[in-house]
Amino acid sequence: MSVTWSSLLDPAEFARRRARLMQAVGPDGVVLVPAAPPLRRNRDTEYRYRQDSDFYYLSAFPEPHALLVLLPGRPEGEFVLFCQPRDREMEIWNGYRAGPEGARTLFGADQAFVIGEADQRLPELLAGRRVVYAPQGSQPAFDAQLTGWLSAVRAKTRAGIAAPVAWQLLDSVLHPLRLLKSDAELGVMQRAADLSAEAHRRAMQAAAPGRFEYELEAELLHTFARHGCTAPAYGSIVGGGANACVLHYTENNRPLHDGDLVLIDAGGELDHYAADITRTFPVNGRFSAPQKALYEVVLAAQLAAIAAVQPGASWQAPHEAAVRVLTEGLLRLGLLSGEVDALIAAGAYRRFYMHRTGHWLGMDVHDVGEYQLDGQWRPLQPGMVLTVEPGLYVAPDDDSVDAQWRGIGIRIEDDVVVTPEGCRVLTAAAPKSVADIEALMAADRAAGVAA
Ligand code: GLY
Ligand code: MN
Ligand code: MN
Repeated sequence: MSVTWSSLLDPAEFARRRARLMQAVGPDGVVLVPAAPPLRRNRDTEYRYRQDSDFYYLSAFPEPHALLVLLPGRPEGEFVLFCQPRDREMEIWNGYRAGPEGARTLFGADQAFVIGEADQRLPELLAGRRVVYAPQGSQPAFDAQLTGWLSAVRAKTRAGIAAPVAWQLLDSVLHPLRLLKSDAELGVMQRAADLSAEAHRRAMQAAAPGRFEYELEAELLHTFARHGCTAPAYGSIVGGGANACVLHYTENNRPLHDGDLVLIDAGGELDHYAADITRTFPVNGRFSAPQKALYEVVLAAQLAAIAAVQPGASWQAPHEAAVRVLTEGLLRLGLLSGEVDALIAAGAYRRFYMHRTGHWLGMDVHDVGEYQLDGQWRPLQPGMVLTVEPGLYVAPDDDSVDAQWRGIGIRIEDDVVVTPEGCRVLTAAAPKSVADIEALMAADRAAGVAA
C-alpha cells in the first residue's frame, strides 16, 4: 500500500496555482513553504495532522516534515519537493509515505529529495535568486533554517555567487491568489456547505428540552464525518439560552431548557475547505413572541447584508447594511431609543452587536486576503467567498432593557460567493426563516423522531 491522491481537485488545478504564483514572483524569485509541524496533544499523543493551508494549496501533499520550493525558470525543474523517505518500519507504525518517488509521480514535483538533504541543497537552490518568498514568524524552526541557508549562500558571494537580498512574506504574493476561488474550488466549497447545512438540519431535528448541548454537537460531528470531513473547520459552538451570548462558547456541556433558543455555529472541513454556518432555533420547536421579534430583526439584517454583496461594492457595504437594519429594529422594539442615524454614528448597537458582519472564507475559516487596499475597504470581486453573520446578544444581566429580552442571543450566518451578477448563498440548504425552522422541527416531532 502507499499514499494515494486524496484531493477532490485534480492535479492540474495545483499545477495552475504554482504557475500563477511563479508568474507573480518572477524569474528572480524563489518560493519556500514548509509543511505544518505535527502538534503534540499530550505525552506521546499527537493531534490529527492537518497540512498547512499554503503548502496544501500549492501541492496537495498531505505529509509533515516536507518543504516545497518553487524556482521559476529553473531548467532542471521549477517544482522541488523535500519529503520524508520511504521507511517500511515507520510506515507500519505511523502511516504511508509518498517518498521522493511518489512526490514526483503522484504530486507532480519536477525533482524530489529526502528532507534530510535540505541543508545541503538549499544554499545551491537559493544561489542567484534575489528575493525569497517564504513565511516568517509562524514556524521558528523554519525561520532559523532559512536564516542559515541564506548565510550559507552569502558566504559564497566572494566566489561570484549572488545571494538573495530580501526575504519577503509569502502572503503578499500567494494570498491574493487564494482569495479568488476557481470554479473547481467553489465546487468543493459548495459540497462543504451542503453537508454542513445537512448537519444543522439534523441538529435541529434532534433538539428537545432536557437534551445536552453536546448531544447536538454529536449530531453535527456525525454528519461531518459521514461525508468525509476529517474535522470540523473550527470548534463547534452549541450554546443554549444565554450561552449564545458568549461569542466563542465551546464548552457545549449544559442542558437545553424548554423555552430557550439554542445557537449553533459549526461547519465541516472538506478537503481543506471550510464551511461556517450559524443557525439559532427554539429548543422546543416554537419561537416565543420576544424571541421571534428579535430573530426577525437579525434575519432582516442578514438579508439586507446579503443583498449588499455585489461585485464592485465595498467590503464594508454588507456590514453597514446590517448595522442599519439592526439599529432600526432595536429602536422599534425599544431596546434603544433616539434617532437612527445618530445611534449608528455613536455605535449604540455595539452593546448588542459587538462583532463584524463577516470575514473571508476558504481553506481557513477566517481565510487569507486583505480587507483594505491603500487604506480603503476593498471592492468585492467575483470568486471571493465571505460569511454574512449579523447577530444580537442581550446580556442576561442587562437591567436596562425589558426582562423579556434578557439572555437572548441570536446569530444567523451564511457563506456567500460573489458572482458577476451579484452573489450566491452556498449555505441556503440550512433553513433560516421562522416558518421553515418551525416546520422542520414540527414535522420531526409529529413523526416522533425527536422524543
Ligand atoms: N465560527 C467562526 C466565525 O463565525 O467567525
Ligand atoms: Mn464566521
Ligand atoms: Mn461561524
